[in-house]
Amino acid sequence: MNQHGPARETPPPAVVGALRCPVCGSSLTRAPGVLRCPQRHSFDVARQGYVNLLSARSRPPLADSGDMATARAEFLAAGHYAPLAGRLSEGVAALLPTDLHEGLVVDAGAGTGYYLGAVLDRLPAASGLALDASVPGLRRAARSHERVGAVGWDIWQPWPLATGSASAVMNVFAPRNPAEFARVLRPGGVLAVVTPTAGHLAELRTLVTMLDVHEGKLDQLDSSLAGEFEPAVRETSTVELTLSPDDVRRVVAMGPNAHHLDRGDQRARLAELTEPVRATASFVLSFFRRAGKDR
Ligand SMILES: C[S@@+](CC[C@H](N)C(=O)[O-])C[C@H]1O[C@@H](n2cnc3c(N)ncnc32)[C@H](O)[C@@H]1O
Ligand SMILES: [Zn+2]
Repeated sequence: MNQHGPARETPPPAVVGALRCPVCGSSLTRAPGVLRCPQRHSFDVARQGYVNLLSARSRPPLADSGDMATARAEFLAAGHYAPLAGRLSEGVAALLPTDLHEGLVVDAGAGTGYYLGAVLDRLPAASGLALDASVPGLRRAARSHERVGAVGWDIWQPWPLATGSASAVMNVFAPRNPAEFARVLRPGGVLAVVTPTAGHLAELRTLVTMLDVHEGKLDQLDSSLAGEFEPAVRETSTVELTLSPDDVRRVVAMGPNAHHLDRGDQRARLAELTEPVRATASFVLSFFRRAGKDR
């Protein structure tokens, strides 16, 4: 899935074709080192291959830091959440109508691009857009798969993407924007949302204060999508993990808990761990289909 071989064009042409200028809404085209629109708004393609369409002023506060992105990349590379990536990619491929298999898969809050890569491996003719506000995340996502383009954006703002340009949208433990999910997805396209269950990694709560999962979160998700989406499949995926002390430190450091470690003696307790810890990861996968007729 990783490409270390010959240079390729980044972002891939199929991704650039779906992007729109965040200033004026026109199409973007590739010129040396930049994407630009006919009004000459121009956006650098970074050396690492991503394009940040966000201005420095508008960077959202919840974007992952470099340490969080590194912890996430290392934890995911160990394969702990591979069963989730497997179920997610199977679900998207199974639900997507055949004529949409060649389209664009948008991962909103893609992080390092781990799950998007798994979905693209199942859809050999599709391209992927990793949207995230974290520059360290984008650097990794841009190199995560040969058919991925990584673009810096704030999920809560209107997306710099053409209406109806996506065959599938994924959203894994990340902020959601239901209006933009609906606008960019073609009718018949698939939306896949992954959320943690209330019991996710409950065993680690004796070590650190994990943020509570609100009761009724799935109801909120469903009602936010009502009208524009039809529920397709919902399933729970549970993975029994044996985590080394480093794995535990990484899974804590990659999530929102990382911001709260200075409360009490949590940091010291994590540093002192010497034995593996058993923990249960548990997620809900919710698949929806975009309602409506093709435009
Ligand atoms: C918990 S991580 C999940 C990353 C990835 N989906 C995964 O599961 O590996 C949440 C991601 O959302 C991104 N994020 C948070 N707020 C955002 C926003 N407003 N716009 C875009 N990305 C955002 C973070 O930078 C981070 O990469
Ligand atoms: Zn423009």
